[in-house]
Amino acid sequence: MPEVPPDLIDRLAAADHVAALTGAGISAESGIPTFRDPGGIWDEFDPQELANVDAFLDNPKLVQAWYQHRRQIVQEAEPNAGHQALVALERHVDRVSVITQNVDDLHHRAGSRRVVELHGNITRSYCMDCERDADPDTVDAAIQNGEPAQCPDCGGLIRPDVVWFGEMLPPAAVDAARSAAHAADVFFSIGTSAVVYPAAQLPVTARQAGAYVVEVNPDRTPLSDDVDAFLQREAGTALPAIVQALNEAKKE
Ligand code: OAD
Repeated sequence: MPEVPPDLIDRLAAADHVAALTGAGISAESGIPTFRDPGGIWDEFDPQELANVDAFLDNPKLVQAWYQHRRQIVQEAEPNAGHQALVALERHVDRVSVITQNVDDLHHRAGSRRVVELHGNITRSYCMDCERDADPDTVDAAIQNGEPAQCPDCGGLIRPDVVWFGEMLPPAAVDAARSAAHAADVFFSIGTSAVVYPAAQLPVTARQAGAYVVEVNPDRTPLSDDVDAFLQREAGTALPAIVQALNEAKKE
């Protein structure tokens, strides 16, 4: 079992509120590519061509088809030991807030109870005009027929419920994330390159507010020098080891 800092376990054992910011790295072991690692999504695709509203309006069929492809990948994936360890933490800590930049729905599917989605959720779609939720089967059928997916009520284009470049994050999610960062006794930053704001600010806010901040990432990031503990390992190894050490500490 990898080494877990004893002061992290002490802080977790005493914590009422733990918050965890997650990024694409926590889902890497479920087979979902990250964005910025070699071979990641932004190596293969240009975000300017696909992940913004102008690209969508220029070529809705292309962008809808790309999101349908990514939706299939996440639906075929399963939550991994890292997602499950965050669920297991709920047995020991009153309040565990998971703040995710991921759109893959894997924290919900693993069973986490409090999930804040900063960048939306790729499994949902809605009409750009009337904003009604769209039925995924209707969207898939249109794309398979080579048609742009349109709203059955108003004819508007259907878009994925994700935040694109140049768009605002959902204000309620940002508020919930900031409140959790302020209130957390222990704050984790897991599997994120910590370069996209406002998410990257959250560990800094948490530490200023007195939280013990832990980073879990096999690679260093701009955050790594400013944390209380840097666990340079995969989430699927580090997080279960932390939960196991906490289980043992609670038995003593
Ligand atoms: P990135 O692709 O930028 O970073 C993924 C991080 O995960 C890297 O720091 C890796 O070292 C780390 N990593 C890889 N495998 C891991 C593992 N098994 N366990 C733990 N960490 C691992 O992804 P994000 O930081 O999530 O935004 O990217 C943030 C945002 O940038 C995304 O939400 C997306 C993108 O543009 C939008 O689309 C709005």
